[in-house]
Amino acid sequence: MAQAPVLERNPLRDGLVLARTPDPCAMVIFGATGDLTHRKLMPALYNLALNHYLPQGFTVVGAAHSPLSDEEFRSQMRDAVGKYSRTQPIDSEVWRSFSGGLHYVSMAFEDPSGYARISSVLQDVDGTRGTAGNRVFYMATLPGVFTTVVRSLGTAGLSQTAGWTRVVIEKPFGHDLASAQALNTAVHEVFKEPQVYRIDHYLGKETVQNVMVFRFANGIFEPIWNRRYVDHMQITVAEDIGIEQRGAYYEQTGALRDIAQNHLLQLLSITGMEAPANFDAETVRDEKVKVLKSIRPVDVAHDVVRGQYGPGWVAGQEVKGYRQEAEVSPTSLTETYGALRLYIDNWRWADTPFYLRTGKRLPTRASEIAITFKKAPHQPFAKTVVQELSPNVLVMRIQPHEGASLKIAAKVPGPTMRLRTVNMDFFYGSSFLVESPDAYERLILDCMLGDPTLFAREDEVERAWQLTDEIERGWAAEPPPDFPNYAAGTWGPEAADALMERDGRRWRRP
Ligand code: BG6
Repeated sequence: MAQAPVLERNPLRDGLVLARTPDPCAMVIFGATGDLTHRKLMPALYNLALNHYLPQGFTVVGAAHSPLSDEEFRSQMRDAVGKYSRTQPIDSEVWRSFSGGLHYVSMAFEDPSGYARISSVLQDVDGTRGTAGNRVFYMATLPGVFTTVVRSLGTAGLSQTAGWTRVVIEKPFGHDLASAQALNTAVHEVFKEPQVYRIDHYLGKETVQNVMVFRFANGIFEPIWNRRYVDHMQITVAEDIGIEQRGAYYEQTGALRDIAQNHLLQLLSITGMEAPANFDAETVRDEKVKVLKSIRPVDVAHDVVRGQYGPGWVAGQEVKGYRQEAEVSPTSLTETYGALRLYIDNWRWADTPFYLRTGKRLPTRASEIAITFKKAPHQPFAKTVVQELSPNVLVMRIQPHEGASLKIAAKVPGPTMRLRTVNMDFFYGSSFLVESPDAYERLILDCMLGDPTLFAREDEVERAWQLTDEIERGWAAEPPPDFPNYAAGTWGPEAADALMERDGRRWRRP
């Protein structure tokens, strides 16, 4: 193994050392030759190895259709890590040791003999690598086969071992409430809820976790984090990319199901929740679910806007409209943009609007939570520009340039009383001098440690689908939308601006 990371002597890294190491275990990845494994899972596992976070004897059993030998699988994974790892170049010593634990089983997911072969590899590695029956089953396949794989694990007896077993399920977790409930039922035939880890990779992002730290580890924010001091919140997940090569998937999904049902509602529940009594998984998730349950029924015609991009320009490049993308219908009514105004009907947030938006082919990639505070109640600086000053805004930047900034009024130097808005900034990069790990590193490690706090619980997912279904039903009852209604490279449809203007507000331009 390589030496400890070079930044070890940096005092700013104090507290960054892992307190617990996971038990020796094996991870079976279904869909091991797919995009997710190449881009995210393998680079995350390699970086965990590089940072000495993996347990002794850690083993991966990749499972997929392609006929590959262990050696061919290892070489494919090395290429993937070479291409997508956040740390480069690959440390050959770390890779040699890590890749010694990579195995491959070629199988059809509906064929029981494939599970028997996996079982035999796992028994071998329990002996040779000391994995002691501890297993993570990772569903990185197309969602259509999740149920088949989970049921087959049960039938093959793979969920019952001498150690612990856990299952990680990628999004999308269902397509609507009914399918999510059916999937939950199928999963629970084989695994109990505490063994189920439903991924929402936004929860693994450092700044998302930092929202909780900002709120609950500092004394100064919580007293003003409520309807008395907060004017409104804006939660944005903006992307400049289009749908890339995912036309077929996206046609069935759209922005509401792809991002709002999961990432946006997760950000909303973390920002809006009450302080949990402690940080154990159930307590935190109980508080998040309470937020989702308190969301007022949505008036779709007034509070929701959908959009679809037409041709345009992004970062100086001419780009196609959504309907011209591969595997997309030329008359598609799938939305690539969604904006919503939500209310959380509880004591803390009564009548405080939460504006959420997401879109593809917007001018920039930016995810953030912006909390706009009410203006000072009395303005002693009459006849100055203070009346026109913008209000205090706390922005938690999820990406890029992770960090936070607080907009405040300050006096311009000089003999007269002139005020200007300035920013107090905190940047992760310069404060800790380390690059943030990828969300998947954190989440995979938490799963191996048996900590589901940053994973979506059954009731959370179902409530989020209930809200999404409500909006989908409202849309289905409306006349077909006038798509495309925004040009690629702009901030979405005019109706989204109108939604804000009606309330005398404007969207931020991150
Ligand atoms: C995924 C969506 O969940 O999140 C994608 O399916 C989207 O459509 C992606 O591009 C955004 O994630 P990130 O981490 O790049 O903000």
